Amino acid sequence: MNKQILETAGGSYPILTGSGLLAQVGTELTARINPCRVMIVTDSNVAPLYLEEAKKSFADAGFSVYTHTVPAGEESKSVAVLGELLEAFAGAKMTRTDLAAALGGGVIGDLTGFAAGCYLRGIRFVQIPTTLLAAVDASVGGKTAVNLAHGKNLAGLFHQPIGVYCDTDTLRTLSEHELHDGYAEAIKHGILDDPALFDIFENGQPAAHFEEIIVRSVVYKSKIVAEDPNEKGVRKLLNLGHTPAHAIERLSDFSISHGHAVAIGLAIMARAAEKRGILKNDDSARIIRTIKRAGLPAVCPFSAADMAKIAAVDKKAAASDITVILPECIGRCRMEKIPISEIEALFADGLEGQS
Ligand code: NAD
Ligand code: GLY
Repeated sequence: MNKQILETAGGSYPILTGSGLLAQVGTELTARINPCRVMIVTDSNVAPLYLEEAKKSFADAGFSVYTHTVPAGEESKSVAVLGELLEAFAGAKMTRTDLAAALGGGVIGDLTGFAAGCYLRGIRFVQIPTTLLAAVDASVGGKTAVNLAHGKNLAGLFHQPIGVYCDTDTLRTLSEHELHDGYAEAIKHGILDDPALFDIFENGQPAAHFEEIIVRSVVYKSKIVAEDPNEKGVRKLLNLGHTPAHAIERLSDFSISHGHAVAIGLAIMARAAEKRGILKNDDSARIIRTIKRAGLPAVCPFSAADMAKIAAVDKKAAASDITVILPECIGRCRMEKIPISEIEALFADGLEGQS
């Protein structure tokens, strides 16, 4: 089992990764907090697979267990489903000393974290990620959100979990498509900071290296979040590829999943950086080849103009400017603030020569 500690100004929390952890979550927690009520939040796909084991893990450690299951899918990141979850907390008479547990992928983590952050002005929660995407990214760092009709993740807050417990055995039931979603965020971390992580996808066998992929991602993300928990500066780097990705998700009516949209977004930013002379040698081609090798798309089905319209209401757009992240080489990226009026031209550069 691997253990990392994420240190923030508000406190630190452990991020545990390994086989068999689900059965141990309850006892791991009682080493740090007193048993209390716990509301396990999960989705309709994960519940039949892992809810019983999670319930037993908490109950055996002395917690009073409640559960709330939402329909699987991005549609559950909505104000309506958030409202139902808050009512479920209240119905279970959860108090400020109680706990929420997010058992599932990024959708469940974002939804549960938001509910925990605003119920009674904030209760504790833990992340129990069961997708590779949630393990390498969404479960760490305290970003929570739901989507609004106007855009993705437009309502949310920063609320750090008190622990992240990733049982790598749960990843065995993921489909190829869901695994590939996770590969996209891990490739992003490789491009940002970790050539050895990128190499697993460029030349290696990712399916044989889940624990290493998760731990390398968590080590990097923890370092960034510790430095900038509320995304005032360096954390913006983690949005590499996400401005086009959020537009692609919305334009596809969420039929293109987050990870697949991120892969297309990474390819767009690599081509745009190459066109502007920022990314040199054959690094753009390497990135695009690696995305495809990981079973992910690198071609965008939407126009630069349509994506630019959506990017203008993205929460990363501050007034008339937007911060975009451009790769300089594999292992280093830069932030650039550009006028919103220039985003369409940037996307157009990123779409040129797609194949
Ligand atoms: P998801 O939560 O919808 O999970 C994908 C699918 O896998 C769902 O159908 C789910 O039911 C199923 N599933 C989950 N675990 C399973 C398992 N072990 N076996 C079989 N099926 C399983 O999607 P995701 O890709 O995990 O997360 C995407 C979401 O995360 C997006 O909403 C994105 O915006 C968000 N996100 C948040 C952050 C953050 O920092 N908060 C970072 C990246 C992504
Ligand atoms: N997923 C980007 C971040 O957590 O900042």
